[in-house]
Amino acid sequence: MGCAHGRLHVVITAGPTRERIDPVRFLSNYSTGYMGAQLASASLRRGHQVTVICGPVSEPMPRGTRVIPVESAQQMRSALYRVAPGADVVIMAAAVADFRPSRPRAAKAPRTGRWKLSLIATRDILAGLPRHQPQVVVGFALETGRAIQRAARKLRKKRLDLILAQQANGDGSPFGRRPVRAWLLTRTGPATSLGRLSKPKLARALLDKAETLWYGQHQSTDSAGKA
Ligand code: CTP
Repeated sequence: MGCAHGRLHVVITAGPTRERIDPVRFLSNYSTGYMGAQLASASLRRGHQVTVICGPVSEPMPRGTRVIPVESAQQMRSALYRVAPGADVVIMAAAVADFRPSRPRAAKAPRTGRWKLSLIATRDILAGLPRHQPQVVVGFALETGRAIQRAARKLRKKRLDLILAQQANGDGSPFGRRPVRAWLLTRTGPATSLGRLSKPKLARALLDKAETLWYGQHQSTDSAGKA
């Protein structure tokens, strides 16, 4: 938990998830874990304690991070719900698979003819996360159009304090190491455009805002306690 000298416990989810089709195949996405790794590095440099709930990533997490490896959306959900009560800031940077095979096969499917997969939506990890006050909960929104409006709707629907909207252009972005176009939205005030920036810079901008919100929440609970 946070203390007087400002060391916070920052819990980050990173990378993709893998949803099992059969014992040798899965469904996933292009996430590499780079954003999560940059958030972890920036948090460590500020002296925070960092836990990363980490899907199967291709980018390493920085030394000093407590890593909890997971594979599926279901595992990510269980791990996050276990550690979140001790977090000051929760950052849901993972690209959770939106769909999973409705009936994964117990045996490897043979390569014959045609195979129609039936998918069902995964449960929304963020929306169902039990809230602990004071705690800052941050989400990401990946949009192909009307990024600000759609992110604002997700912020409300998922009961977030902060959301980072990113534009997906169909060229592989915003996954990996390339710069991204991003906006930050809070529950109050207009969206802040961050322009096009590198992920290390984006991680710093996001943490600046999350820390400001966290100290704001603490000031209000402190003064409520004194009143
Ligand atoms: N998220 C989650 N659980 C899921 C899917 C997404 O917690 N099953 C989180 C992501 O980590 C992200 C935020 O929700 O922080 C928004 O993810 P995004 O894919 O943009 O939105 P969805 O809620 O999946 O909505 P849609 O795909 O319909 O735009």
